[in-house]
Amino acid sequence: MKRDDLNAFKTWFSMYCASFSSDLEEDQKNFDVKRKHTDDVCSNMLVIAQDLELDDQRAMIAEAIALFHDIGRFPQYQQYKTFQDSISVNHAALGAKVLIETAALGNLPKEEQDLIVRAVTLHNVLAIPKELDRNLLQYVKMIRDADKLDIWRVFLEYYAQPKADQATAVGLGLPDIPEYSPEILTNLHQRKLVLLSSLKTLTDFKLLQLAWIFDLNFPASFRIVAQRSYIDRFALTLPKTDDIADAVDAVREYLNEKLKNG
Ligand SMILES: [Fe+2]
Repeated sequence: MKRDDLNAFKTWFSMYCASFSSDLEEDQKNFDVKRKHTDDVCSNMLVIAQDLELDDQRAMIAEAIALFHDIGRFPQYQQYKTFQDSISVNHAALGAKVLIETAALGNLPKEEQDLIVRAVTLHNVLAIPKELDRNLLQYVKMIRDADKLDIWRVFLEYYAQPKADQATAVGLGLPDIPEYSPEILTNLHQRKLVLLSSLKTLTDFKLLQLAWIFDLNFPASFRIVAQRSYIDRFALTLPKTDDIADAVDAVREYLNEKLKNG
């Protein structure tokens, strides 16, 4: 990939986003969230790439993966008015389809196109399939970290906004009540991810998002979590109970271990 290819992808992506622009304020707000998310995931990706000391060529491929990772969100929202994959489509698979059908990557060597399409496809799977080749595996881990690091930002902003300003598709339509499912706290103590299917309330969803820390891969990612005070800021949005405070402490302890060992 050449620098010109990456620049052309950025222009193409801007035009692709613009093609979804809507006169409906609610729809435009939801598209804007994804546009800004993409920009920020690209920045996170570059920080991780730098920390891993990737050469220019590999860093550009990483950035292209970040640029295209959520491209499926645009047609998903346009058709279904939601970002909830379970009631619409798998947005990662849809994104891969868009890349192929539009031939957006047309100028790149076939191997690079495959790498980008496959990393986009795998960015949201619950568990990374075993036996990926090392090269692809590294990009998949990078995009998953870069993505989560920004989803935390998106949600902290969302939780802090008055209802009228919130982008409606972000909260997944879960009831915003303090009740939570105790088994999710057990997951946090056991350092395990939480399944989307187990969510009943927005509080459950916040706890699920905290558990994403257990899926981070790179030292740079843990440093970003600490720099941005994500755990403390999430804790402030949660109900003030002893059970929750203990679970948040368990997450903090995990981060501290990672920071020490990284
Ligand atoms: Fe995504």
